[in-house]
Amino acid sequence: MVSRRTSLTVTAALLASTAGALDNGLAITPQMGWDNWNSFGCEVSETLLLQTAQLIVDYGLKDLGYHYVILDDCWSLGRNASNNNSLIADPAKFPRGMAAVADDLHALGLGFGMYSDAGKYTCGGYAGSLGYETVDANTFASWGVDYLKYDNCFNEGQAGNQLISYTRYATMSKALNATGRPILYSLCNWGEDYPWNWGSTIANSWRISGDVYDSWDRPDSRCPCDGPDAWNCGLPGFHCSVTNIMNKASFITSKAQPGAWNDLDMLEVGNGAMTDAEYVAHFSLWAAVKSPLILGNDLRVISPADLSILSNAAVIAVNQDPSGSSAARRWIYTTDETDVNGRAAIQMWSGNLESTTGGEQNDMVVLLINGNNARTVMNATLADIFIDNGPAGTAPQVKMPWEVRDLWANRMSNDEAQAIISSSSATANTTTGYNATTVGAGGRYNATRTSYAEGLARKNSLLLGNIETTVQPSGTLTATVDPHGAAMFRLRAVSTGTAKRDEL
Ligand SMILES: *[C@@H]1O[C@H](CO)[C@@H](O)[C@H](O)[C@H]1NC(C)=O
Ligand SMILES: *[C@@H]1O[C@H](CO)[C@@H](O)[C@H](O)[C@H]1NC(C)=O
Ligand SMILES: *[C@@H]1O[C@H](CO)[C@@H](O)[C@H](O)[C@H]1NC(C)=O
Ligand SMILES: *[C@@H]1O[C@H](CO)[C@@H](O)[C@H](O)[C@H]1NC(C)=O
Ligand SMILES: *[C@@H]1O[C@H](CO)[C@@H](O)[C@H](O)[C@H]1NC(C)=O
Ligand SMILES: *[C@@H]1O[C@H](CO)[C@@H](O)[C@H](O)[C@H]1NC(C)=O
Ligand SMILES: *[C@@H]1O[C@H](CO)[C@@H](O)[C@H](O)[C@H]1NC(C)=O
Repeated sequence: MVSRRTSLTVTAALLASTAGALDNGLAITPQMGWDNWNSFGCEVSETLLLQTAQLIVDYGLKDLGYHYVILDDCWSLGRNASNNNSLIADPAKFPRGMAAVADDLHALGLGFGMYSDAGKYTCGGYAGSLGYETVDANTFASWGVDYLKYDNCFNEGQAGNQLISYTRYATMSKALNATGRPILYSLCNWGEDYPWNWGSTIANSWRISGDVYDSWDRPDSRCPCDGPDAWNCGLPGFHCSVTNIMNKASFITSKAQPGAWNDLDMLEVGNGAMTDAEYVAHFSLWAAVKSPLILGNDLRVISPADLSILSNAAVIAVNQDPSGSSAARRWIYTTDETDVNGRAAIQMWSGNLESTTGGEQNDMVVLLINGNNARTVMNATLADIFIDNGPAGTAPQVKMPWEVRDLWANRMSNDEAQAIISSSSATANTTTGYNATTVGAGGRYNATRTSYAEGLARKNSLLLGNIETTVQPSGTLTATVDPHGAAMFRLRAVSTGTAKRDEL
């Protein structure tokens, strides 16, 4: 039996050395940021990046941890034969060049993300980096790039087994390292050739599926392998629903570790085609499995409701938890008899979090996801929540009482979110920023000032959520969950009387 003490020791060792992970010191917790692809595709420009960067600052998103502004495909004009075949930024889109963009982002305290492709062409048909890894890595470093998303189109058949894919992606990893500049390496080969088996030694994250799109569960033939048993997907595709990707993630949660993460793809929150409950569930799941949290919406037109989802510090704190261990799916089953393909199933995920009680018992995240079209009362037993600590209810944690904290209870109101949006003078005014004094009596969490690790250690109430109830020994946690929605809780060991009071 693997005792809790053993697993804590292993986690501590991983944190100390990030053993088995790429040794560039980055993404010790999952990276956060914004990428233009989901809402803008090829419509990229300096103006878009800098305007969005200012909004990330104004809306307090930077201070919640969203750090990288990532330029996706379609930015180049090809290679310059008189300059070592280095890539040229399209002057119509980037009139001052990329280094100027990097400088401006850095001045705002943000990082600059770049895109290229481990193939002859990028997916949009622009020059790819295959065979040009060294010159491109040097170019990116000279521009001041902090992050590379590295795609998989037109790879000239250099795929089909793990070693071939590994070797192709390792070439860029080595080239980035040789520049001497720490550049977060985000590998994007859509889960082809099982990157979760080899990605951690060369990259900070790896995509696990074809491209996400703005749908909760719509099946689409272009993203095959739908349903809870489809793990071995030879054709990644695109137009993958949240449910499709959630199922694929469920098999490989153990692969996530500090410095090396399963990437479930960029967020669709705010792009308009899902319900509020669906966006809440999407964000909650991505956070709990330690996916990178990369915004994918147009911040110039963000709604208050969407800003409040993306700003939920109690949920982000689960994603950024120092223990760096993914939640895992404990069960999934269908309660709707009309659901023939199992898509509308209900499921429960749970996972270890760092202790915030000061005691030796770690906290636990519990995520209940309702795929039904009707509101559903869902029940999770302590025996199932703590199944990794002992099968069939034998875990010592099952015999303890647990404080249940609702991580969505403190979601900010639409009025408060609207005040934040208005105070930035929306798109153009860069002289006024978000005024923390005027918005929100309760205040917002500021991770620039106090890291999530420190805030958790200090039991900051904005991170711990609201106490809902207590689950008694051998008890069951129950929640009424909206259709296609989620309930998300932090369980904390009930204090035995002598522990210090929480910071308010
Ligand atoms: C390059 O790799 C070495 C060995 O893993 C590591 O110590 C170093 O920090 C890396 N440098 C960068 C810039 O990533
Ligand atoms: C190509 O490189 C040469 C030599 O460095 C430089 O003079 C020229 O401006 C570059 N062309 C473009 C389009 O960047
Ligand atoms: C091309 O690369 C070589 C070797 O790194 C370097 O010596 C040379 O200055 C580069 N040429 C240009 C035009 O940057
Ligand atoms: C959860 O428990 C309640 C109360 O026992 C029950 O009414 C409900 O049907 C259960 N939910 C499911 C999905 O089984
Ligand atoms: C930006 O806001 C400031 C302060 O409210 C105001 O003085 C200024 O005129 C605004 N600028 C624009 C371009 O709206
Ligand atoms: C923020 O708002 C408060 C209250 O209206 C005001 O006193 C303060 O000067 C504002 N701060 C900034 C930086 O605008
Ligand atoms: C967050 O904290 C940093 C560092 O103390 C500070 O510069 C920044 O203004 C704070 N942000 C907000 C929105 O108060």
